[in-house]
Amino acid sequence: MTQIRHLVRPMQRRPGELGVHSLDRFNFSVPDLAQAQKFYSSFGLEVKEQGGGLEIYTSGHPHCWGSVVEGSRKKLRYISFGAFEDDLPRFRARVDQLRITRIDPPVGAHSNGIWLRDPDGTPIEIRVAEKSSPNEKSSFENLSTAPGVQSAPSSSKKPIVRPRRLAHMLVFTRDIPQAIKFYGEVLGLRLSDRSGDMIAFMHGIHGSDHHMIAFVKSEAPGLHHLSWDVPSINDIGMGAMIMADKGFSAGWGLGRHVLGSNYFHYVRDPWGSYAEYSSDIDYIPVGHEWPNGDHPPEDSFYVWGPVPPRDFAFNYEAAP
Ligand SMILES: [Fe+2]
Repeated sequence: MTQIRHLVRPMQRRPGELGVHSLDRFNFSVPDLAQAQKFYSSFGLEVKEQGGGLEIYTSGHPHCWGSVVEGSRKKLRYISFGAFEDDLPRFRARVDQLRITRIDPPVGAHSNGIWLRDPDGTPIEIRVAEKSSPNEKSSFENLSTAPGVQSAPSSSKKPIVRPRRLAHMLVFTRDIPQAIKFYGEVLGLRLSDRSGDMIAFMHGIHGSDHHMIAFVKSEAPGLHHLSWDVPSINDIGMGAMIMADKGFSAGWGLGRHVLGSNYFHYVRDPWGSYAEYSSDIDYIPVGHEWPNGDHPPEDSFYVWGPVPPRDFAFNYEAAP
């Protein structure tokens, strides 16, 4: 059986090279946990109360993708990245060799990893974890019915949309080149694509979506959005409609990005950041060298879709 599994799902690992394999866990604070519970459960996520905060899961998946705690304001508190167990000593040696100061885990963090700060001061963890990033391009559905059979449900019978996994996060940074350098040299992520010093997308070397984390320039760090993978464009539209029905109608979509190629709809959360329904993002297999490029922003933001809200890239975490 093990052998069969091995044949079906080969180990996704680039031999000999050191790099994190997954975006393992996010953590941020918000002033009102009840609002967060309503927003993320309406979005189709499983929200569990744990230790005074909320843990976020996707239906049918055992992995905890992140947690939300109560704080005076919305603030990105830390990001954990997953690594293979036998790579952890090598990461420790690399961090020491680069003379990066290790820090204690933030209060409340469950940790087995190495903690440090990125150039913006955000705590980062490299921890041992199961690979939660996909080992192959995620399936994409475009379901139809046979002639003579109605395909769409009535609007009162919309099925609930259930995201399959956390796809990526976009965070604000003061300095894009510095972020690319740090996340490349320390975590072993690779640049997928960028638009000058405005935005950059990075992937893992052990099989990863086009981006597991991306950076957008701002005057301060912060969380811009969490992206959740769904299997179809229909799910994106359905999710957006369900959120609008529940009072979360602000956002941006439906559209298609250029860098990453994913279809999207962003739903604005109660704190001015976003949760993204995403589908059919480009995938970078183990061993594939993605030809990263520097693209003019006006030609690489989105192929089609409505005009984005004016404050789409505004960092409300930096506002006084
Ligand atoms: Fe995204």
